[in-house]
Amino acid sequence: MPVITNIDDLKRLYQRRVPRMFYDYAESGSWTEQTFRENTSDFEDIRLRQRVAVDMTGRSTATQMVGQDVAMPVALAPVGLTGMQCADGEIKAARAAEAFGVPFTLSTMSINSIEEVAEATSAPFWFQLYTMKDQDYLSRLIERARAANCSALVITLDLQILGQRHRDLKNGLSAPPKLTIPTMMNLATKWRWGIGMLGAKRRDFGNIVGHVQGVSDPSSLMAWTGEQFDPSLDWDKIAKLKEQWGGKVILKGILDADDARMALKVGADAIVVSNHGGRQLDGALSSIRALPAILDAVGDQVEVHLDSGIRSGQDVLKAVAMGAKGTYIGRAFTYGLGAMGQAGVTRALEVIHKELDVSMALCGRRRVDELNRDILLVPEGFEGRWQ
Ligand code: GLV
Repeated sequence: MPVITNIDDLKRLYQRRVPRMFYDYAESGSWTEQTFRENTSDFEDIRLRQRVAVDMTGRSTATQMVGQDVAMPVALAPVGLTGMQCADGEIKAARAAEAFGVPFTLSTMSINSIEEVAEATSAPFWFQLYTMKDQDYLSRLIERARAANCSALVITLDLQILGQRHRDLKNGLSAPPKLTIPTMMNLATKWRWGIGMLGAKRRDFGNIVGHVQGVSDPSSLMAWTGEQFDPSLDWDKIAKLKEQWGGKVILKGILDADDARMALKVGADAIVVSNHGGRQLDGALSSIRALPAILDAVGDQVEVHLDSGIRSGQDVLKAVAMGAKGTYIGRAFTYGLGAMGQAGVTRALEVIHKELDVSMALCGRRRVDELNRDILLVPEGFEGRWQ
């Protein structure tokens, strides 16, 4: 077994072990992938300020996100098709998150269902909602999340229609994979994945197959989004969903200060500055570059979180020092899951935790509530001078 010291090690193992179609699904951005690339490269533009001779004893990365205790300001992001990266992937990731003390967010487009994840875990998880045209189904989905004791509803706002990811079209992405000749040839080299999948509880979209009618190809994410997702979602509908849910609501996919103000108006408990991992609007700003303006607009009135581009504890440190109250990892835990199952997700969390803890200490800070922009060296004009 190779020694895993960083997230890239997990990514290399993941690439070897998981079928090409699902690796490509996770590792793609939309169109030219400019936003996907800049989500990570823009983190590199920010430097950390080294401070010395500060007492480093008694450090802690613990904090809260939407009033819940977390071992570090990192949640697992909702990732569609997680149970195709590894058999029962959502259950394994949720268990790893629970043991580590960070929130797990289950995607509407998951393989394991809400009920399966609830049965396999004891800590409440968060449920990510895609709004569908079928109102009965949508209401039932919200009720299912409530019955499963989910402690927050994460409503995604930036995917009413799907951004195009070229490789998913070329690969004919589906869950389960359709057995074309190229797919079969690739699967033949992924025996570990295949053996796991033979014993999986589920190989289709657990929250929707059998619960909703009228999709031409139930195994296709593109068919679901095109035929079922509600393109008319607007702020009034979001306010109604919030009322219907009655609990904590996190609005995900905010990249603009005006939208952040609207989220505040509908009473969001938190917003997630996100461009969906660079998978939707190609050409949009990276999340870390969009964060300062959103914090200036609403940061003192609502909890601001960030996803898209976090691959290390240093990235978490930069986002939190900038003012985010929490971050999410999607790809970083997916690499771990595809590489080594539940142990790989745990390893990803350990790697990020250690990077955060040690880097925080080297910046002369012992606790998350001591983090602020003083430890950052942000280049002039980082936010950009856009007309
Ligand atoms: C779904 O959320 C996707 O980005 O594929």
